[in-house]
Amino acid sequence: MVERLVIDRLGHRGDGIAGGAAGAIYVSGALPGETVEVEAVAGHPDRRHLIRVEVPSAERIAPICPHFGVCGGCAVQHLRAESYRAWKRDLVVEALRQAGLEAPVAAVLDAHGGGRRRAVFHVRRSTHNVVEVGFAAARSHHVVAIDHCPILTSKLDGALKTAWAIADALAPLDKPLDIQVTATDVGLDVDLRGSGPLTALLVAALASVAQRHDVARLTRHGELIALRRAPTLRMGKATVPLPPAAFLQATALGEAELARLVVSACAGAGTVADLFAGIGPFALRLAEHAPVHAVDNDEAALRALERAAATPGLKPIGVERRDLFRRPLRAAELDGFEAVVFDPPRQGALAQARELALSDVPRVIAVSCNPGTFARDAGELVGGGYRLIAVTPVDQFRYAAHVEIVARLEK
Ligand SMILES: C[S@@+](CC[C@H](N)C(=O)[O-])C[C@H]1O[C@@H](n2cnc3c(N)ncnc32)[C@H](O)[C@@H]1O
Repeated sequence: MVERLVIDRLGHRGDGIAGGAAGAIYVSGALPGETVEVEAVAGHPDRRHLIRVEVPSAERIAPICPHFGVCGGCAVQHLRAESYRAWKRDLVVEALRQAGLEAPVAAVLDAHGGGRRRAVFHVRRSTHNVVEVGFAAARSHHVVAIDHCPILTSKLDGALKTAWAIADALAPLDKPLDIQVTATDVGLDVDLRGSGPLTALLVAALASVAQRHDVARLTRHGELIALRRAPTLRMGKATVPLPPAAFLQATALGEAELARLVVSACAGAGTVADLFAGIGPFALRLAEHAPVHAVDNDEAALRALERAAATPGLKPIGVERRDLFRRPLRAAELDGFEAVVFDPPRQGALAQARELALSDVPRVIAVSCNPGTFARDAGELVGGGYRLIAVTPVDQFRYAAHVEIVARLEK
């Protein structure tokens, strides 16, 4: 049955939302102010499928990608740039409001730069029994076969062909595969998952793909299959040897902008702790000015950071492997630092935030990819006497419903 709805607002996942007596109705692809024709979505009583925009918004623009709406990678390509940026900023403003926090939120800093430097291609057999290579479809387990993705860096131009070649080489296994491709300073770094253990014949077939496609390194679940050049990334003055599938900020510019904000917020601090440091994009730049204590629970990331820390001219970087969820740095340990940076995964760092709240660290810099857990953790710090001085949203996930945050807190 076809219904007509008027859309009130854009939700945090980029869906148009129509408010009704029975609650919110979500319509992907619809914009605030629009009158739309929709139909029911089986199994989702609060969701409708967009059939037709009857009265379009003046803010509506043509999406840049033919796969938009089907591919699950992008949520909002159909909104004018200014309104798109306002929506992203509002994700942060609204999360702070819900947590009862007041803070000046800056305009969104665009950090798309040359595009995303990592993509995960899925290899799946379609319902028509055809093997497809592409991205996950929106709200489904299907794969959208693509030939090009306009949000990726041009350094990943050959990545899809390489993923197809890997899918062909492993066709005898007939297994769903996930192929993560990262653009590094020496070429493509590919980590393959889902194949299970490989025979010598399949390893040889993959090594041949790596050679033909000039792949710098090919691994399966981090285990080496072919190495032509050891993948590295330049971070500040240092060159980091990249562990397979290590965490990486989505764009090179995103990493540089987040690090610039972090370094500027730590200016003048004599000692800095970098918690959830990963391979060290912040630590390595902070160490151009002050000694850094870097903590993470990823052994391979810390070993890579340790090697990069030997770069001449950097102040010492000490690394500590520690589970900061179970064993956060205690207030007494934190008090030795003049600034503390923490950049946890999406679930935030509640236990660490509680210890920070008890500490006397004069400056805390919170970096986050999740406005909800950021606001919760910042609330802990504010409860412990910190003031939220500045909050900057950073957009390195252009068109997606993600936003990064760098916040400065002082006591
Ligand atoms: C969002 S990433 C940030 C990494 C780094 N700051 C960067 O910008 O590349 C989160 C980091 O938290 C680390 N991590 C996840 N769970 C952890 C835990 N329980 N204890 C310590 N570190 C953890 C991950 O290994 C990852 O390096």
